[in-house]
This record gives sequence, C-alpha cells and structure tokens, in this order.
Amino acid sequence: MSKILVTGGAGYIGSHVCKALKMAGFIPVTFDNLSHGHEWAIRWGPFFYGDLQNSEDLDKAFLEYRPEAVIHLAGSINLRESIENPYKHYFNNVIGSLSLLKAMVKHEVHSLVFSSSAAVYALPQYLPMDEKHPKDPVNPYGKTKWMTEQLLEDFHLAHGLNTLSLRYFNAAGADPEGEIGEAHIPETHLIPRLIFTAQGKEEVFTIYNDTLDTEDGTAIRDYIHVTDIAEAHVSALHWLKKNKKPEAFNLGAGKGYSVLEIIEKTREITGCPIEVVVGNRKIAELPTLVADTTKAQNELLWTPKYSDLAQIIETAWNWHLSPTLAKK
Ligand SMILES: NC(=O)c1ccc[n+]([C@@H]2O[C@H](COP(=O)([O-])OP(=O)(O)OC[C@H]3O[C@@H](n4cnc5c(N)ncnc54)[C@H](O)[C@@H]3O)[C@@H](O)[C@H]2O)c1
Repeated sequence: MSKILVTGGAGYIGSHVCKALKMAGFIPVTFDNLSHGHEWAIRWGPFFYGDLQNSEDLDKAFLEYRPEAVIHLAGSINLRESIENPYKHYFNNVIGSLSLLKAMVKHEVHSLVFSSSAAVYALPQYLPMDEKHPKDPVNPYGKTKWMTEQLLEDFHLAHGLNTLSLRYFNAAGADPEGEIGEAHIPETHLIPRLIFTAQGKEEVFTIYNDTLDTEDGTAIRDYIHVTDIAEAHVSALHWLKKNKKPEAFNLGAGKGYSVLEIIEKTREITGCPIEVVVGNRKIAELPTLVADTTKAQNELLWTPKYSDLAQIIETAWNWHLSPTLAKK
C-alpha cells in the first residue's frame, strides 16, 4: 500500500483526510508538531512528531516512510491572529511550505496536494467565484496561501514537482460516524462557537461584523462538509498520477449562507436559544464567498455528498455532544 505523508494530519481537516485515505487503501503518515492538533485524532496510520521548520525532522520522516506523495495541511489558520501577528503566519505558512518543498526535492517525492483557501481571492467581482477569479487577498492569512500557490508553480518549473492546490471554502461539520470532529483551540469558527453557546459553555455569541456589504450585513460563506473535503484529497491523488502541471480547484458546496442564517439554523437543530451580540472589532474580510466548483466536479470527478447545511450542523452538534469528545 502506498504511503502518503500528511502534514497537519492531527488537525481538524487533516484527521478527516487521514480517515478518507485509509478507507481508499492508502497508509496516511501524520507529520505534525501538535501545536494545534490532537494525538487522539491520529487513528488511521503512523505518527511522526515533527516540525515543518526543522529540516532534520523532515529528512527523518521522508527516509523512514518513503512516501509516494505529500498532502500539506500544516499551518497557522487563525485569520484574526494573522492580522495581529503576521510574522508567525508568514513564517509558519510560507517558510514552512518552502522547507517542505526543499525536502521533497531532496528526497525525490514529486507529488503534492496543498491546502489552499478561498481567502486567496480578491473582493468578489462575480459570484460564484471560479478559479480564474482575480486574486488579491485582503489579509495576511490569505496572502500566505497565495504566496505558497505561487511557490508551487516555481518548484514545478525548476524541479518538476506536480502540485494541486485545493482552495477550501469554509470547512465545517464532523465525521458522520462520530469518530473525529472539530476541536480548534482557540475555536474561531462559526458553527462550533454557536454550539458552545447552545451548550451553555459560552454565555453569548459575538458576531464579528454586521456592516458588510451583504443583505443582512453579516458575512456570507460557502460551508463545505469536512468529509467532502477529505474525499477530494483522494481524488486529487488520482488526478496527480495523470496530470503534470500545477492546478488549483475550489472546494465548496456552491451555496452561501449569512452568519444570521447559520445562527437560525443552529437554533433550530439544537433546539437551544442562542443569545447574540455584535462585537466592535471589525476585521478585513470579504463580504461574500461562494464557490463555483464546476472544475473540481469535471476534472477531479468529485461531488459533495454531505454538504447540506442541516447535515453539516447535525454532524457538528452530534460530535460536540459525544462522550468521546468530553473525554478528550
Ligand atoms: N478550517 C477551514 O475552514 C479551512 C479553510 C481553508 C483552508 N484551510 C487550511 O486547511 C489546513 C488545515 O486546517 P485545519 O482547520 O484542519 O487546522 P488545524 O489547526 O486543526 O490543523 C493544522 C495542523 O497543523 C499542525 N501544524 C501547524 N504548524 C505546524 C508545523 N510548523 N509543523 C508541523 N505541524 C504543524 C497543527 O498542530 C495542526 O494539527 C490549513 O492549512 C488551513 O489553512 C482550512
């Protein structure tokens, strides 16, 4: 069975990717420094404790496991923190990716799937956004993703690396079998924060921004189930066997919901009142992000199966209620 090195495999999306890889007959090797990941989330293959910035760690992992390809999810993900501490984000996301690419060249591993983001896009010029939509990230987090995509093009030209960037829109939901789910610390994502409020772990839910250029003033986002994202990585590995040029694909559900709509749906599914206030610290963010996923559907032969909004919130709610999570 072929081994795939999964950087960030102990994280939210990475652990779902590892499960999908295992189900598809691969051996996922998690490479993670556990800065934000969890040991309990590594269940479908070996674990190598290491840091992207440490070339010795990377050398050891490549020599020990001799992976056929790399899926690169490791990075800093907190958008607000990227504005307050750009050094950390550029260092971890851009320099970390460079360090990984250098190791791939050294160990002659030529295939890479990269976790990019919808945050690479400029203010919407049309919706839904396809992959050709102009790029002009509005925050450092998005810039690190766009810079890394550009690095991949240069490494393809110079060293023949074959790369595919998956631009996730908003990952949400949890494993439908309840084995893993979202557990970011700190949690900044909408649906788990709403669930914390529904469970009484938070008294009130704070909306970051209600002055955006959308119908109700809150951000409209495209929520894609994490299991659909995970399965796209298996399709991406198959695609890389046949295609040898850097490409990017959107992964979304193709439909947008505002923060207020998500709040309402979460109240309905959880049956709990969720008290809401509006905060006063606005951040630079795009008002609306909705994916055109025609390219992924046609070329990766991938279709979202779990991304109905009710199913996303239900799987997340079940995960947060599960005794498994409480023990972790
Ligand atoms: N969650 C989303 O909605 C979303 C949307 C678009 C893109 N992405 C991208 O997907 C990827 C995974 O996101 P996630 O939500 O699972 O985040 P996460 O924080 O749960 O996972 C990231 C993992 O990377 C590890 N890591 C970080 N820096 C590392 C380093 N230097 N060396 C080794 N390991 C390191 C962390 O310990 C963690 O396990 C990220 O690259 C993120 O930017 C996520």
